[in-house]
Amino acid sequence: MRNICILGGSGFVGHSIAARLAAERRNVTILSRRRERCRDLLVLPTVQVVEGDIFNTAFLSKQFANMDAVINLVGILNEKGRRGKGFERAHVTLPAKIVEACRQSSVERLLHMSALKATVDAPSHYLRSKARGENLLHDAAGDRLHVTSFRASVIFGPKDSFINRFANLLQLSPYIFPLACPDARFQPVYVEDVAKAFVRSLGDRHTFGQRYELCGPKVYTLYELVSYIRRQLGLGTRIYGLGNGLSRLQATVLGFMPGKPFSMDNYRSLQIDSVCDGDFPRIFGFRPTSLESVVPVYLGERRSQRYSLYRALARRR
Ligand SMILES: NC(=O)c1ccc[n+]([C@@H]2O[C@H](COP(=O)([O-])OP(=O)(O)OC[C@H]3O[C@@H](n4cnc5c(N)ncnc54)[C@H](OP(=O)(O)O)[C@@H]3O)[C@@H](O)[C@H]2O)c1
Repeated sequence: MRNICILGGSGFVGHSIAARLAAERRNVTILSRRRERCRDLLVLPTVQVVEGDIFNTAFLSKQFANMDAVINLVGILNEKGRRGKGFERAHVTLPAKIVEACRQSSVERLLHMSALKATVDAPSHYLRSKARGENLLHDAAGDRLHVTSFRASVIFGPKDSFINRFANLLQLSPYIFPLACPDARFQPVYVEDVAKAFVRSLGDRHTFGQRYELCGPKVYTLYELVSYIRRQLGLGTRIYGLGNGLSRLQATVLGFMPGKPFSMDNYRSLQIDSVCDGDFPRIFGFRPTSLESVVPVYLGERRSQRYSLYRALARRR
């Protein structure tokens, strides 16, 4: 497993996996729509970024030639429209093209990132499309293509979009913070643990054909998580958990805002607890990292930046 191609490698999880592979001196090729997004990874001597259209099977086949493995991390939390076409394209059409390109270029190993609780009858487009894409890959697998997929709960780390998004919102709401779906449950997993699991499974035959749930050591409600973030930031904001009707209303309104900070599809995903059925897979040989040992480090930086700003404003510096 020397030559690895990563789709979606420019993102949050992709950065950790690429850096880990590069540290093991493996050659990493990241396919991206925007080469610029991976500028920081280009300093690593064994990483290269190729810009192109990953939905073009001919482009994929060409890039997959001489690869020992392909990792698919492409995923979206929201689409432009509302009917599920964007989810279908990113989570189902793309995996179909990846399988086709693997066949054409004789790639025999494929790792895929799905989502925890993805099922074909889940309430959201996100979870249903993730399930169809995952099933499609496992159905296509055989003697000449070995697939392993990973079903992660929400992932945390210094550059995450979950903890950091709530931290941003809390910092913008000094008095009261209306929180939709406060009772939704999560079991957050550390990005470096996810990356470790991916890298360890690459050449391990025991993981062929398996689907692994990835969770951290502890379950939290969304209310508990947001309260924890508030405490770490040293804010006095009052968090007000919204009931079902107001949560739906918030999702409807925010779903029409640019960038869809929260949508009805997100609301529907939150109706299913993102919690693992068992422990962290033993096969990877380590215990998952706790949120409390990582999050204070990166939220603490925000806190000290805020105090520096206050001091500057008070002309203490
Ligand atoms: N973060 C989490 O909490 C979490 C939890 C469970 C599962 N997951 C899954 O884990 C995977 C990686 O997550 P992440 O947080 O690293 O995501 P991310 O930071 O958004 O990165 C995903 C990458 O996918 C590519 N991409 C996104 N939309 C695309 C589209 N419409 N067409 C083509 N390429 C597209 C982008 O690469 P370019 O812009 O370079 O093309 C992007 O860098 C995703 O499949 C996600 O669903 C994430």
